[in-house]
Amino acid sequence: MAETKKNAGKLKNILKAPFVQEMCRTTANMYRLGWDERNGGNISYLLNEEEVAQYLDLGKVIRTIPTGFDATPLIGKIFIVTGTGKYFKNVEYDPETNLGIIRIAKDGTTAELLWGYKDGGRFTSELPAHLMSHISRLSVDPAHRVVMHSHPTYTIAMNTVCPADEKDFTHKLWQSNTESIVVFPDGVGILPCMVCGTNEIGEATAEKMKKFRLVVWTNHGIYGTGKDMDEAFGLIETVEKTAQIYMLTLGHTVNVIPDETLWGLAKRFDVTPLEGVLEK
Ligand code: 13P
Ligand code: ZN
Repeated sequence: MAETKKNAGKLKNILKAPFVQEMCRTTANMYRLGWDERNGGNISYLLNEEEVAQYLDLGKVIRTIPTGFDATPLIGKIFIVTGTGKYFKNVEYDPETNLGIIRIAKDGTTAELLWGYKDGGRFTSELPAHLMSHISRLSVDPAHRVVMHSHPTYTIAMNTVCPADEKDFTHKLWQSNTESIVVFPDGVGILPCMVCGTNEIGEATAEKMKKFRLVVWTNHGIYGTGKDMDEAFGLIETVEKTAQIYMLTLGHTVNVIPDETLWGLAKRFDVTPLEGVLEK
């Protein structure tokens, strides 16, 4: 009671904020799953302004950082974003250095740093792909919040041995694990091998994100999105598990899930499979 009174009107400890703790837990999980070596991977999470205001003075901008692209539809929006060059394995031990909270400024091309990147760092080099994907996903799903990028081993391996054909790749995943069509009936988009960290790959990813929640970057990794951390993580996790099964059985496959059963799963779990993948 005394403690509550003493803290009345004060800002809460941001290190205890659920969104900071979620970023710490998720990056640690991703690292331990082997998906994010060194500084591999990045996450951005659209936050609720009222919630952030419990922890930060929103009138206080630490510094501004140009983004290099136009994110006008996101003006005023606040994101927590992993830092460029930062290791996922370290986030939980020093969130204020490895993460940052940014707000898109009125010009649409500047990020206002509200917290974090304590060592003078900046947001991930993949910010164009993240913010452009947020714009795309929000346009089809107002509840959308999270963009997650990762380098899961078997997903990259499967992408290396399979044609970069979205319908074929999606079909192979659905055929290898009954969970797949249920978890991602909307399928997996694929980009060809491109230079990462650019506006071009950002634009190409965002275009795919109008249709898909999952996008593979050939020879690089995968993007997953969702209304919360669990959805984005669960999508990538299910693709990676299935890609592992695919790669472990490659060349020895005897049983694949027939299209008839895939239709049955779609019916039982009330999902609509991506058009043109299954035989009618
Ligand atoms: P950042 O360290 O800039 O986030 O880059 C990591 C990565 O995965 C690039 O695609
Ligand atoms: Zn990457």
